[in-house]
Amino acid sequence: MSIVFDQKSSTLSLHTRNSSYQMQIGPLGYLLHTYYGRRCEDFFDYLHLPRDCGFSPNPYTLREGRGFSLDTLPQEYSGSNGADFRLSSLELRTDSGVVGADLHYVSHRILQGKYRLSGLPSSFGDMAETLSVTLADAASGLEVELLYGVFEERDIITRAVRLHNCGTQTVCLEKVASVCLDLPFGPWDRIHFHGRHTMERQPERVPVANGIQTVSSARGASSHQHNPFVILCEPDATEDHGECCGVMLCYSGDHQTDVELDQTGSVRLTAGIGERHFSWRLNPGESFDTPEAFLCFSSEGLTVLSQRYHRFILQNLCRSEWIAWPRPVLLNSWEANYFSFDEDALLRLAREAKDLGVEFFVLDDGWFGHRDDDLSSLGDWYVNPGKLPHGLSALIDRVNDLGLKFGLWVEPEMISEDSDLYRAHPDWALSVPGRQPAISRDQLVLDLSRPEVADWVYETLSTLLRENNIEYIKWDMNRSLSDLYSSSLPPDRQGEVAHRYVLGLYSVLDRITAAYPDVLFEGCAGGGGRFDAGMLAYCPQIWCSDNTDPIARLQIHQGSSYGYPPCTMGAHVSASPNHQTGRSTPFGTRAVVAMAGTFGYELDPAALSPEERAEIRKQIALFHSCSDLLLTGDYYRLTKEGAPYTAWQTVSQDRRRTLVSLVLKTTEGNPKPLHLRFKGLIAEGRYRLAWQRNYGFAGLPGTAESSESTAHEFSGAALMYGGYTFPRIHGDYPSVQLCFELLQDSSADS
Ligand code: DGJ
Repeated sequence: MSIVFDQKSSTLSLHTRNSSYQMQIGPLGYLLHTYYGRRCEDFFDYLHLPRDCGFSPNPYTLREGRGFSLDTLPQEYSGSNGADFRLSSLELRTDSGVVGADLHYVSHRILQGKYRLSGLPSSFGDMAETLSVTLADAASGLEVELLYGVFEERDIITRAVRLHNCGTQTVCLEKVASVCLDLPFGPWDRIHFHGRHTMERQPERVPVANGIQTVSSARGASSHQHNPFVILCEPDATEDHGECCGVMLCYSGDHQTDVELDQTGSVRLTAGIGERHFSWRLNPGESFDTPEAFLCFSSEGLTVLSQRYHRFILQNLCRSEWIAWPRPVLLNSWEANYFSFDEDALLRLAREAKDLGVEFFVLDDGWFGHRDDDLSSLGDWYVNPGKLPHGLSALIDRVNDLGLKFGLWVEPEMISEDSDLYRAHPDWALSVPGRQPAISRDQLVLDLSRPEVADWVYETLSTLLRENNIEYIKWDMNRSLSDLYSSSLPPDRQGEVAHRYVLGLYSVLDRITAAYPDVLFEGCAGGGGRFDAGMLAYCPQIWCSDNTDPIARLQIHQGSSYGYPPCTMGAHVSASPNHQTGRSTPFGTRAVVAMAGTFGYELDPAALSPEERAEIRKQIALFHSCSDLLLTGDYYRLTKEGAPYTAWQTVSQDRRRTLVSLVLKTTEGNPKPLHLRFKGLIAEGRYRLAWQRNYGFAGLPGTAESSESTAHEFSGAALMYGGYTFPRIHGDYPSVQLCFELLQDSSADS
């Protein structure tokens, strides 16, 4: 049993293999949070001593004792407009003027299996258990069901909240956090992942300071700017050491995570739907589900935390069968052709791709309506006859005849003013009556909060997939949501538009991925503007960034890797100089970095030298030879703080194989050698350098050209404790990949 109720102490404990989470039904039925940390079967109520704290009020019934205050004790799900002045989890207002919530325990249930959410993606697992705790607020008639999914083997606890209006009046919800987490111990650092278009998910680590710090997006998407994933860790926590706690939202729209350090030294974190554009009218008898949040605790540093999230996302979140399959190598037409192509140009590109060993040919933007630039045609999802006079199916047939599978770009959530769709349905675009909507990339956003619009999107995509042999879809989304107003909702429900949009999006994704399970869906939002767990529930991979410069990508991939598995990060080899940054890099280094993600190409092979074309064949063969390792292996960040290189390592589950990759970011005269210690190997095992790809390093240990006396064998201990030396370095941005394998007769039992 991973969920235990102790009657004597009125304590509910949730245990995973390495962590425990605990709450206690306290005086007057207030649900107190007593513990989240290393696994421990004891009770922690003794830690939280009631004390009289100046200006912290007491519940009316306990007014004489003066020691019990909701303002100083850790809460499992904080109310509002009561005695707790810290971050609230729930803000509401009724038509009769009730403001806030005073939540008391009513009951709890322990259930086998994992709860599901209505209209929202949620994790799954046969072995999971569910705890449901019901709280109630008497004044509003609202019942608050706290849902916990315990994935014991994964060390993950999921949380969500289901609200039931059991009263007689409409309750207007103004904030509903998915999670509230009170951590009485500190100090903590907060790591979050900020950025911008083409520079997404840059890690930033800051001490949690007094007051409230917020990470949020009000852009209608999880955004390039702030990812819905936050880690709290001990100030001395490193990759291999220290306590850390992750909170990841499974949501793709506006989000908000607040962290407050209060007067008692406690930290409270609340996370959920962003407050700025949110309100929801809940009528008597209706229910509302929040998005899910994934909590993970590690006492062994950040690497273990990341690995636990990776396994969970791959095995308990994404429902696509593609998630478990080695990814095909594709060539995408975007950076080769942009908008200017015709059938002949595409077929030439496809022939080149096939000749080099590519498996999927993907036609990007510009194939539909009369789209020759980004000014028109979104919504007109029928072929551009000027470019493809024989139609889409004819093109696909010819691509298939070459022995390639075909993939297509769509941007189904958007509408151009210059489109037949807009001319027929101008009211389908989000726009506030009497005001001109903001334009971005010359496009407007379809109002997916309207079921008939979401249905139209589903039908249009379904027709495309039914009538054409499309085996991959790149689902793009190239602007933020503004001008939130839906003509289908009354004035007092306009605060629901942003969340209803996301529900509409999920309803389309849910139906289309279920109807076409064999199609590989790749998410995209101007690159990595919607790289989140919600999208990963449907799309096994997401285009990580519009920036294909390998050196910029190093940091984007490393930042993303804190929460998300490398095999979900869309990554391609592109031309040099790079189209986004103008930087020139070696061809080999571009491939090393693309193999830190899904691996593919986004260039015109005809513009390459014969040597580079020959190199592509080798790169593809190499990727296939280790794609299972990259898909299922444990990922380690090896880069040291301030180092001039980025290095990473993947170790197979049985620890018999490992791939180490390193890219040097600066060039110096008389360079110092680099030393790197590997991780995750069997100390007693003996490893052989099975192969290496070297783009600029000379004389690597274990290779024929090195001068060291030992043969091409190393113990796991030697590689982990002594490390490995990268001796001499030539040229700009050199890189290397080293694959070590355990010798057959070596011990694998450690
Ligand atoms: C943004 C995407 O991220 C690019 O890869 C490309 O598909 C363009 N949109 C096409 O408009």
